Amino acid sequence: MNQSHRYFFAIVALLMIGTTRLFAQDQCYVCHSAIGDTPSTLFQHDVHFKKEISCAGCHGGNSQMEDQEKAMDKKAGFIGVPKGDLISERCASCHADAAKMKKHGSSLPTNQWEGLKASVHAKLAVSGKEHIVQCSTCHQAHGVVSPKDPSSPVNPLNVVTTCAKCHGNAAFMRSYNPALPVDQLEKYRTSVHGIRNAKGDRKAAECASCHGSHEIRGVHDTKSKVYTTNLPGTCSSCHSNAEYMKEYKIPTDQYERFTKSVHGVALLQKHDLGAPACNSCHGNHGAAPPGLSSVSKVCGTCHALNADLFSSSPHKKAFDERKLPECETCHSNHEIVAASDKLLGVSAEAKCSQCHSTTQNPKGFESAKHMRMLIDSLEISEQHARSLIEEAEQKGMEVGEAKFKLRDVRQARLESRTMVHAFNLPRFTEVVNKGLAATSSVAEEGQQALDEYIYRRVGLGISTLIITVVAVSLYLFIRRYERNQR
Ligand code: HEC
Ligand code: HEC
Ligand code: HEC
Ligand code: HEC
Ligand code: HEC
Ligand code: HEC
Ligand code: HEC
Ligand code: HEC
Ligand code: HEC
Ligand code: HEC
Ligand code: HEC
Repeated sequence: MNQSHRYFFAIVALLMIGTTRLFAQDQCYVCHSAIGDTPSTLFQHDVHFKKEISCAGCHGGNSQMEDQEKAMDKKAGFIGVPKGDLISERCASCHADAAKMKKHGSSLPTNQWEGLKASVHAKLAVSGKEHIVQCSTCHQAHGVVSPKDPSSPVNPLNVVTTCAKCHGNAAFMRSYNPALPVDQLEKYRTSVHGIRNAKGDRKAAECASCHGSHEIRGVHDTKSKVYTTNLPGTCSSCHSNAEYMKEYKIPTDQYERFTKSVHGVALLQKHDLGAPACNSCHGNHGAAPPGLSSVSKVCGTCHALNADLFSSSPHKKAFDERKLPECETCHSNHEIVAASDKLLGVSAEAKCSQCHSTTQNPKGFESAKHMRMLIDSLEISEQHARSLIEEAEQKGMEVGEAKFKLRDVRQARLESRTMVHAFNLPRFTEVVNKGLAATSSVAEEGQQALDEYIYRRVGLGISTLIITVVAVSLYLFIRRYERNQR
């Protein structure tokens, strides 16, 4: 090719670009919309169309060519219909490239592909060739719109059905993980979140607000947003945000109170996975405040003994009649603090005095007073027994057995704290008496050890005296003997 040929082609090319710009920019769209196929119809309200991104942005090819063959030429990079991971890779060719996105005037995050690749959905599909989900599974391929658009499949009002297309399909899910329940949407619809969502409230939690959108992880993955120790933070992102929750007129202090509670400290500071997170009480998908009758069931899943005792106690009927919640009435719900003897009795700080006095429910008043006296006497006698044992031990006496028995005393004291929940004086007295009996036997052994010590001390004193007397007499005798010898 000589110089003049080059100029000629350059001018022709410029003219071609000029005319295509003048008439229509995207020949792919021009031709396809003339055919009237679905992709080009959907594309009319696609964000990419609005950003003047061509069909070729995803499919490759030369969008300047009016001719079908030339436009859809493999040599021009045309890939046909992308399949499998190639779909997400195509989306990521822009969405994971901050510089490219900036060139398009976008400041959106560019971490979706990275997140998706780290997610549970990046496991291999049954075909063994591709990830379980692609970008287009949730966003569609054509007619892609912002999640804020009401027609987006990932809009808060639609995302629940988008996820449930798979997660509510038992046959589909069985081929992946037969153990995974498929009732999330069904349960969700019964929760306050789900009911509000169905009525068009975008602010109530949906699948993605709790699980994330791109980096969705297995629920037992420590990085999952719903992993037990991360969950309270996930709920609190809305529930502690007073501005966000303004219109609902419910408290926004649950997280703050929870972190101060025995449960919160155990879970978040001691990483005790046996302690409850928000969902242990509110359910995973049925997030609602536990109903009046179910509260003791919730607490009872872990505190079974307390709940059983409560159910057979006189408070069961009395609380039900007054519509009082079973455990919270005395322990509160979020800021549950370590229980102590102070809760019991008829002093001002005791819970019992809220409802029992000499005039109001007096039988319970007498019982409460008595119960406190009993538990105090157990405490005092335990302290006494313990101090005797410690003293004896310090003096070098053997008290191993008695020390072991102290564990029975401790056990009885723990049992009595639980037995409070029977709200039955005779049953309570029985447990405390068992403790008192164990205590007095320990105290007796402690006292015996101390007596023995004193006995031995006296014995030692006398024998020392005798030995001294003998030694002194011997000395005197020897001296006299020596003197006599001289
Ligand atoms: C002049 C008309 C015309 C132009 C220009 C054109 N196409 Fe097509 N395209 C067609 C027709 C007709 C078909 C369906 C027949 C076929 O598969 O060959 C088709 C098919 C396709 C398919 C489906 C292929 C498959 O394997 O099923 C894709 C994807 C596609 N076009 C994308 C594009 C892209 C991207 C461009 C621009 C770079 C483009 N087309 C330009 C007419 C056109
Ligand atoms: C944002 C990326 C993207 C853009 C832009 C895009 N497509 Fe597609 N297209 C896809 C993906 C992904 C598939 C595969 C869809 C699937 O498997 O569900 C596809 C499939 C197709 C198919 C074959 C399957 C079908 O749905 O009929 C045709 C034809 C097609 N696109 C044409 C076009 C045309 C014409 C345009 C421009 C008007 C266009 N596409 C713009 C991503 C895109
Ligand atoms: C050629 C580059 C390019 C490709 C390829 C591409 N996108 Fe986009 N996408 C953009 C740009 C640019 C925007 C507009 C961003 C903005 O408005 O800030 C956008 C917007 C979006 C939005 C709307 C985001 C919002 O909040 O407004 C979604 C969703 C989206 N793309 C999904 C996809 C999917 C899914 C694919 C693949 C099937 C894909 N994109 C392929 C460049 C691309
Ligand atoms: C499992 C469903 C799902 C998949 C798969 C998915 N997304 Fe999303 N995407 C969402 C949801 C839900 C939102 C809106 C909530 C949000 O902003 O986190 C969203 C938001 C977006 C946005 C708006 C900006 C943002 O990050 O919030 C873009 C852009 C986007 N997705 C692109 C992609 C791309 C690219 C892929 C593939 C690499 C992809 N998405 C895969 C569900 C999905
Ligand atoms: C209010 C927060 C929240 C919402 C909303 C939510 N989830 Fe969950 N999801 C959880 C928690 C918490 C778990 C259980 C974690 C655990 O077992 O430790 C869970 C568990 C799961 C599991 C594992 C199997 C199971 O059922 O235990 C899947 C799958 C799941 N959710 C999907 C969904 C889908 C789909 C939606 C929307 C319909 C959704 N989730 C809505 C919080 C939520
Ligand atoms: C294309 C089908 C499909 C879609 C759509 C889908 N998922 Fe999944 N998801 C799966 C499959 C399959 C698994 C099981 C992976 C495995 O364990 O083998 C899974 C796993 C999960 C898990 C982990 C469960 C566990 O094992 O702990 C969660 C959580 C989850 N998905 C939430 C969602 C949410 C939220 C959405 C919507 C934003 C969604 N999924 C959309 C197919 C899908
Ligand atoms: C996306 C924000 C958001 C997230 C995340 C969220 N919630 Fe909610 N939640 C709401 C909104 C909004 C309401 C509606 C308040 C109302 O109706 O009083 C609500 C209602 C509730 C209610 C009922 C309150 C009542 O008495 O009306 C409970 C209980 C609840 N959420 C618990 C949880 C738990 C537990 C989690 C975490 C597993 C959680 N929420 C995560 C926004 C959220
Ligand atoms: C030990 C069980 C338990 C735990 C843990 C728990 N809750 Fe609750 N929560 C309750 C009970 C019981 C109620 C019902 C209050 C009522 O009806 O009087 C409640 C009520 C609520 C309400 C309704 C508004 C209110 O304050 O009364 C919201 C919202 C809520 N909880 C959110 C949370 C969040 C968020 C967490 C985690 C940070 C959490 N809960 C942890 C038991 C619990
Ligand atoms: C998921 C299991 C679980 C649930 C549900 C649960 N708890 Fe607990 N609770 C624990 C654990 C574990 C501890 C011990 C925390 C520690 O001290 O390390 C505890 C401690 C307590 C304590 C302090 C005990 C003491 O020795 O002082 C009280 C009181 C209590 N819980 C009451 C409740 C009430 C009331 C409810 C229901 C509203 C409830 N719990 C629900 C597991 C649970
Ligand atoms: C009428 C008040 C009252 C009600 C109702 C009540 N408790 Fe208690 N609870 C107490 C008192 C008082 C103590 C402390 C006893 C002590 O330390 O002397 C206590 C102690 C506890 C303890 C620590 C002792 C132990 O057993 O480990 C737990 C746990 C507990 N309660 C759970 C519950 C649960 C669960 C419920 C509901 C089924 C409940 N409580 C209902 C008054 C109550
Ligand atoms: C929320 C109010 C309330 C609280 C707090 C409360 N009680 Fe009661 N209690 C009642 C009511 C009401 C009855 C039934 C009254 C009746 O039948 O005389 C009752 C009955 C009893 C009874 C049975 C009395 C009988 O008939 O023999 C005992 C025992 C009892 N309470 C002990 C306690 C103790 C101990 C505490 C503190 C740990 C306590 N109560 C805290 C309301 C309460």
